[in-house]
Amino acid sequence: MENYLQKALENQVTNYFMSVVDTVLDYKDMMLAYDCAIKEIRTKFDILNSEFKIKHQRNPISSIHSRLKSNSSLMEKIRRRGIATDVESIEKYIEDIAGVRVICNYIDDIYKIADSLIRQNDVELLTRKDYISNPKPNGYRSLHLIVKIPVFFADTTKEVKVEVQIRTIAMDFWATLEHQMRYKKTELDEADSIIEELRQCAESIAQTDMKMQSIRESINNLKIEKSQEEKFIEKLKKLDISII
Ligand code: GTP
Ligand code: MG
Repeated sequence: MENYLQKALENQVTNYFMSVVDTVLDYKDMMLAYDCAIKEIRTKFDILNSEFKIKHQRNPISSIHSRLKSNSSLMEKIRRRGIATDVESIEKYIEDIAGVRVICNYIDDIYKIADSLIRQNDVELLTRKDYISNPKPNGYRSLHLIVKIPVFFADTTKEVKVEVQIRTIAMDFWATLEHQMRYKKTELDEADSIIEELRQCAESIAQTDMKMQSIRESINNLKIEKSQEEKFIEKLKKLDISII
């Protein structure tokens, strides 16, 4: 009898550890899929940037950054939102595990790049938040997209969500500084005046972004008389453009 109980207990413990290991493996598979989705989205933006450069002789994208949400930040969000910890719930309710940030030179590039991404057959747009047309009260500006893309593995295909933030260099500069302020939330009047200064700064940055775009247009519209030879050289230069 004692032997039987001992065996039953051992089986129970083994089953428990097996289920823990299974859960950890599921979690690892989930994170792998998000990591691959980041690579796919980055490649899509790289391709759009290269094509645009060939066609228009300038890069619309200044830089691309990406991150997989850290385990600690993911757990903190799950707890804060009261979400169940199984993989299905996490995939359903947390939309920023895979994050890609695209920094553009001009405001109109943001919309061109976003539209080109959304138009792709394998990209499904879930959410679009335009904090450029409708800035947050603190002055935050960016275009946010939540997209879903398929990631192809050896035997399965997984639909994976990615959060894409697209903003100008100036908007990014501002958001980085404002982010530092968030970690120093205090009740001091001093903090209020910094928040107000940041808000005003966001306004002037927005003005500058618009001005830069209109100057770029004016430069593009300048009519220059070119000789046949100059036109030929210009065409040859197009062949030189590196696609990187
Ligand atoms: P979470 O904040 O991630 O829970 O998302 P949300 O559902 O509130 O979405 P939202 O689109 O407002 O924000 C998503 C992300 O955008 C944030 O995690 C930040 O990275 C960025 N963001 C949003 N608002 C601000 C802001 O006011 N300042 C800065 N610096 N970043 C912001
Ligand atoms: Mg987030």
